[in-house]
Order: sequence, then structure tokens, then C-alpha cells
Amino acid sequence: MKVGEPSGTALAAAAHRAIHQETDAPLVFEDPLAATVLGPLRGARAELLGRRPMRAFICARSELAEDALADAVARGVTQYLLLGAGLDTFAWRNPYPTLRVFEADHPDTQGWKRRRLADKGDPPGLTFVPMDFERQPLVETLSDAGLDPDQPVFVTWLGVTPYLESETVMDTLEALASMGGGVEVVFDYGPPPASLTGLIRAAFDRRAARVAAEGEPWVSAFEPTDLAAGLAQLGYVRIEDLGPAELNARYFRDRDDGLRVLAGRVVRART
Ligand SMILES: C[S@@+](CC[C@H](N)C(=O)[O-])C[C@H]1O[C@@H](n2cnc3c(N)ncnc32)[C@H](O)[C@@H]1O
Repeated sequence: MKVGEPSGTALAAAAHRAIHQETDAPLVFEDPLAATVLGPLRGARAELLGRRPMRAFICARSELAEDALADAVARGVTQYLLLGAGLDTFAWRNPYPTLRVFEADHPDTQGWKRRRLADKGDPPGLTFVPMDFERQPLVETLSDAGLDPDQPVFVTWLGVTPYLESETVMDTLEALASMGGGVEVVFDYGPPPASLTGLIRAAFDRRAARVAAEGEPWVSAFEPTDLAAGLAQLGYVRIEDLGPAELNARYFRDRDDGLRVLAGRVVRART
């Protein structure tokens, strides 16, 4: 990230959600506030419009996350933590009166978002936790902000792991697993570039070059089997790992516009 500026990839993810609202039918992910939070920066629209597989992936991971959240709330979970919340608008759309929401993000991104949404006021039940994942202890920082680690927590960690060192990713998953109340986490990650071929590899290389130029290079990738083994070692169970085939079957079946995911994987697991 560039010092003093909001994350460029957070802006791009929000732009993809905003474009989805007005371009694609049927919607995979409904986010009526996506354009509001983004504001005038939507000038990047023309450039992003053609990046349909990335838009499909960003919308599918958010829909999967909010589907899983609905299940968690139905089980009685009352704490939702967004790690690297970016311009996610769930807290402003929260339909669950019992759910407390914690948005943890880099202060530069979070400050920018808060200024964008100042007119709307902070929603009830939302706590902002400005922090740097690479420098601050996760559970202590969240506890200080009011999250109760001895009560169950539902966590989403979307669009963040590729920007962190592998050790930081596994350390974070370990810290989450250490919370005594139990945790369910939904996160996405990229597979090693060497495992990709043809057009998918070419698209991956183009996107990797773009995010690196924006100062947010991808630094970690995981083999699905290694990641599943690592998660199991940390005490995670019910590990679901969905790649393009599974995401397309779940969210993009029966469409005639060809919108579909080409790369990227989403994990759902709980302790
Ligand atoms: C690609 S954005 C994803 C945002 C959001 N989850 C979404 O899906 O739209 C990555 C987010 O991770 C945050 N981030 C990246 N590195 C971070 C760090 N070291 N500490 C805190 N936040 C970080 C950025 O501020 C940004 O909001």
C-alpha cells in the first residue's frame, strides 16, 4: 500500500462490485451501497469493465461469505469480524439485530472509507479496528477493541492473503484458531503460478503485474492440499476449498452472459 492512501486493490474490488450491480443480470451478489462507498473514483470503470473473471470471483467470494454468515447467525453467532474489510458495505446493510460487526483494516484504507460514508453515520453495532496485520498482535488488538474471543466469531478475510507473507497468513489463522469461543473463517487465496497454464496463467501474470505496480504485490500462494493440511494442523475442521469449477457450479450456472470465475480459490473452515 502507498503510505497515506487507501488500498488501491480495495478500491478496485469495490469498483468490481459496483459494476456488477449495473452490468450483470442476474446478480450474484447484491450490494446496493457499492457505488456509494466508492464515489467519484468510479472513473476506473472503463478499464475494469472487461475484467469479467475477476469481477465474477470478487462477487462470488462475497456471496459465499454472506451465505456462510447467515448460517453462522442462525447457529447463534453474534460476532462478525471482517479482516481487511476494505470498502465492504455489509455493516451498513446488516439485517441481523443481534450481530456485532468488527472491521479491522489498515488505518489509511479505513480512514478513507469512514470519510466517504460519514453522511450515513456509523451503523449500530459496528466497531472500527484500525491496525496493521504485519505489525500488531491480532487477538489482543481485537480484544482491546471489544471483541470477545471467548464467544464464537465468524470471520471473513477476503482479498487479503495474497498480499501477506505465507508465515503471516498461517500465523493469522493460528491466532484466529486460538480464540476460545471457536471461529469460522472464510478466506480466499491464490494457487502457485507454476500450477496455472495457458490463458489463465497469462491473465494471472497481467494482474500480478498490475497489483505490484500499485504497490501491493502478491507475495503468497498455496497448494490446496498443503493449505488443507496446515489448517487441519491448526485445529480447523469442515475444511471446504472451492476453486473455479465449484464456484461456477454454485454461483454461475444457467447464465447466458458467460460470466464465470477463471482463477482463485475460497476456503471455508471452522475450529
Ligand atoms: C483487496 S482489498 C480487499 C478488501 C475487502 N475485503 C474486499 O473484499 O473488497 C485488501 C485489504 O487488505 C487491507 N490490508 C492489506 N495489508 C494490510 C495490513 N498489513 N494490515 C491491515 N490491512 C491490510 C487493505 O487495506 C485492503 O482493505
